[in-house]
Amino acid sequence: MTTVPDLLRMKSEQRRFAVLTAHDAATAAIVDRAQIPVILVGDSLANAALGYQTTLPITLDEMLHHCRAVARGASNALLVGDLPFMSYEVSPEQALVSAGRMLKEGGMHAVKLEGGSDQAETVRRLSGAGIPVMGHLGLTPQKVHMFGGYKVQGRDERSQTEIARAARDLEQAGAFSLVLEAVPAGLAERITAASGIPTIGIGAGPHCDAQVLVLNDMLGMSMRVPRFVKRYGELGTEIERMARSFASEVEGGAFPAPEHVYKA
Ligand code: KIV
Repeated sequence: MTTVPDLLRMKSEQRRFAVLTAHDAATAAIVDRAQIPVILVGDSLANAALGYQTTLPITLDEMLHHCRAVARGASNALLVGDLPFMSYEVSPEQALVSAGRMLKEGGMHAVKLEGGSDQAETVRRLSGAGIPVMGHLGLTPQKVHMFGGYKVQGRDERSQTEIARAARDLEQAGAFSLVLEAVPAGLAERITAASGIPTIGIGAGPHCDAQVLVLNDMLGMSMRVPRFVKRYGELGTEIERMARSFASEVEGGAFPAPEHVYKA
């Protein structure tokens, strides 16, 4: 099973790795069989699978429901549960209770939370309690309304300095890895070179220690995806094609055929 020390070792040995999201037991088992070392139960679950417009409405209980399913499906990957909006921002104590539930009830091995230097104290408290924390900087989707949309972050000097400082503060507070989302490649490269913990890029260029994609996006199941997503297949189109074939065979009487039928 992949552990937090394994990932830190991979960073020191400059070995890149892949991270994927999973939201249920069936897909977690497939991703695990593909030997992806880290599975993130991201709050992208909200838009990718549950039909919400943003990640803001999803609750901790909804996340836990899916974390438990992923934990049942995967047996080798390090499992990281995303703390949803307003389950950790109120205080480090609130974060401890929520993150504790992710491990105790959700079967996760670590948690992820969004936010910069303002979250350093919370990261310190969680790490001190033995809960590994993955930070998340740059385009943090829970702040979509502050950003005025899903916009690339860290384009100007001031915001680059702020993100780089936050990366350092979160690492010093005990974070074991950092997601960098939708930031210029040069900024991600500088943060990666300066950190002792793995950076996990999504729309952050090729210099990060790891890359993460939302599974539904890379499978081609999402209608619209950001430019940084590579679609490794067109499963959405394929599922639609199969559903249409099934319907037409049922309507025409070709299914079920004799081999699908029980005899007395
Ligand atoms: O929620 C999620 O899936 C994420 C990844 C995109 C990093 O935060």
